[in-house]
Amino acid sequence: MLARLTGSLTALARLLMVLFEGLTSLLWLIAKGAITFVTGGKAALLPFFTAASTQGKVFACLRAFWPNLSLKAVFIKAYDNSGTAVVTRHDDCLDVLNRNADFEVVYGTRMRKLTDGENFFLGMQPGWEYNRDTSAMRLAARGPDVAEIVLPRAASLSQEIVDKAGGKIDLVPQLSLLVPWDMTDQYFGVGGEMETMQDWATVLFWYLFEDLGADPELDAKAMRYAAGMRDYLDAAIAERKANPDERPQLLNRCLALQGAGTPGMEDLGIRNNLLGLLIGAIPTISKACCLALDELLNRPEELRRAHEAAKADDPVFEQFIWEALRFNPHNPVIYRRAIHDTVVAKSTLREARVRKGQMVFAATLSAMFDRYQIEAPNAFRTDRPWEDYIIWGYGMHTCFGAAINKAVIPAILKPLIARPNLRRAPGAAGQIDSGGTPHPQHFHLLFD
Ligand code: HEM
Repeated sequence: MLARLTGSLTALARLLMVLFEGLTSLLWLIAKGAITFVTGGKAALLPFFTAASTQGKVFACLRAFWPNLSLKAVFIKAYDNSGTAVVTRHDDCLDVLNRNADFEVVYGTRMRKLTDGENFFLGMQPGWEYNRDTSAMRLAARGPDVAEIVLPRAASLSQEIVDKAGGKIDLVPQLSLLVPWDMTDQYFGVGGEMETMQDWATVLFWYLFEDLGADPELDAKAMRYAAGMRDYLDAAIAERKANPDERPQLLNRCLALQGAGTPGMEDLGIRNNLLGLLIGAIPTISKACCLALDELLNRPEELRRAHEAAKADDPVFEQFIWEALRFNPHNPVIYRRAIHDTVVAKSTLREARVRKGQMVFAATLSAMFDRYQIEAPNAFRTDRPWEDYIIWGYGMHTCFGAAINKAVIPAILKPLIARPNLRRAPGAAGQIDSGGTPHPQHFHLLFD
């Protein structure tokens, strides 16, 4: 009886907290939005609404008052759809990302334009082709490689770069883009020319996942870059076949699988799989490093504790990174399209109908702040279980590079954060400069 009463009181307190948070977030959005508009004009509203802190407030309102939103408005022009649904509660987001028979990945049409033919596995629904390609690529990218090859290289290279930087660094070109590119060069075996590959991968990632308005200029650029990447990969595969070697690289492993008659590992299959991996690997790790560090720089006390942990080589250091990415994630949402009319949050007060063709935004940023699942969600804590983090997808399409990310992002940031007095360069240079793209281009920092 007492336990039931305590349970009901806890549930009521939580509901009140959710409603209070929703209301205060709404007031914050109105006040800040108005100030932003008055001081910066219309142009200032886009950066305001795309900032993770603003999105967090929007999602807090939605979780409180309208957790599953279904609209006729079309927000994504790059992929066919008939409207938009936004899902904000933790369990509902995971449900959407798990229900492959109801909600499909949409990227296939653009993936095929990049490969000039076949789909890549992130654009596929469950089935033989998805299993064929992911199985083969998991044989090529073996689990132990991360600890044995990828991590030691990323750690020593990052340390060397920071040691030689002389107290100032432009994070993006000097470190956060360079290290993942180096991984594609040394471990994938298909790095190509550094700046060209970084540029290709960044633009193609933007085209696939972030070109919400379907910009024709970006389309034309992506077609040129994809052709460049295909030609480069075709030549790299042919060259390696002509001059084989034994290095533990994805390219060599793929060719060995080809020699063993593995389905999907013809030259074209290898090329398309490596193309998808290159696009996924380079800009993402770089952006995640920038966002995590930006968040820590905004939190001097947490930065100080992260610095102590980095200096002491304490494993808790990584928790600072994951927590920073919870507040400022690379992917605040993941989108799917409804295959038929269906519902989310069935049989609950928040049940919502979703129509066939609607694009469904699973707001993973929101899910990570859902008080019904995440303890003290607004607190920056370094003792959270890994399951609280949805920072590179969920379900069948969870990031192929998850183990790499978990090792490489801390390896890149640790030598920098271990430096005393890490700080932003003065003025605009010390803020992330994305140069009008969704991806950081510069981020100048100083340290002692
Ligand atoms: C911090 C860095 C990264 C982030 C934030 C990230 C994010 C994501 C997300 C959110 C998804 C799921 C997309 C969806 O469900 O629609 C995904 C899938 C994927 N990622 Fe990553 N990614 C990162 C790094 C990498 C790396 C290093 C690689 C390559 C080694 C990679 C390759 C892939 C591939 C191939 C998939 C598709 C997996 C599948 O369909 O089974 N990503 N990533």
